[in-house]
Amino acid sequence: MNTRPHQEFTGKVVVVTGAGSGIGRSTARVFAQAGAQVLGVGRRQHALDETTTGHPTISTYAADLREPEASQLVIDTAVDRWGKVDILVNNAGATRMMPLDQTTATGIDELFALNITAPSLLAHASVPHLRRNGGAIVNISSTFGHRPLPHAAHYAASKAALEQLTRSWALELAPDGVRVNAVAPGPTESEALTAAGLSDADVEAVKQDEAARIPLRRRGEPDEIANWIAQLASPSHTWITGQVLTVDGGLALT
Ligand SMILES: NC(=O)c1ccc[n+]([C@@H]2O[C@H](COP(=O)([O-])OP(=O)(O)OC[C@H]3O[C@@H](n4cnc5c(N)ncnc54)[C@H](OP(=O)(O)O)[C@@H]3O)[C@@H](O)[C@H]2O)c1
Repeated sequence: MNTRPHQEFTGKVVVVTGAGSGIGRSTARVFAQAGAQVLGVGRRQHALDETTTGHPTISTYAADLREPEASQLVIDTAVDRWGKVDILVNNAGATRMMPLDQTTATGIDELFALNITAPSLLAHASVPHLRRNGGAIVNISSTFGHRPLPHAAHYAASKAALEQLTRSWALELAPDGVRVNAVAPGPTESEALTAAGLSDADVEAVKQDEAARIPLRRRGEPDEIANWIAQLASPSHTWITGQVLTVDGGLALT
């Protein structure tokens, strides 16, 4: 459920990557419900179209963010449509099971292209616009950005890198009044496990195992993450920067 103050983001332009499912879809809708113009980005146009249903202020742009030129095109599209970008949510990301004895250069490159390079190039392309309006970036990390994850070490490493980019960019952009924070979700309902190539049976087993290990004894819902993303981007929270907020039912404490 959206708990944002009414129309808090009126007049703001928000770019949300990975908006065709899960946390990104909820995030696009939370910002739209609070008055923002949203550009939702992902590869599957039909999934993005579903996100826009009932939300006329969400527009879409279909792109594979692993393509080096895609990030600039995304930001140019938002600026062409609305003249500015106020908030960038770097949400698109992928999990990949990759035990060390199956680790390949291609596997690492593909994961890092989406989880590290694309957020970096999107931040690069948006920063001139964010500087103009005192904007904000919210990066989406993971509990496993600050906890080890055997058999998916490069996913954990990519999120650890995103957390360090968050802190470094926060200092770099603070003189311009641009804030950079991150939300680190724990296991949350989305398409991520299926997208990682797991069978339906394996997805169910992982879900049950995760729920049992989470102190609050359940996986999260996308809105429970999206509301914190909006919170960190909110124009009413102008003195928080460089922080990684873990939203995971207590998993990081175990
Ligand atoms: N759900 C969790 O348990 C969890 C936990 C911790 C962190 N996270 C992080 O939360 C973020 C959102 O994940 P989610 O759980 O909501 O998973 P999801 O449902 O799989 O969403 C990921 C989105 O990213 C898009 N995407 C994937 N590859 C892309 C590419 N190359 N170019 C453009 N878009 C791409 C996907 O759309 P297309 O396939 O249409 O491109 C999809 O809509 C990710 O960064 C993930 O690492 C999730």
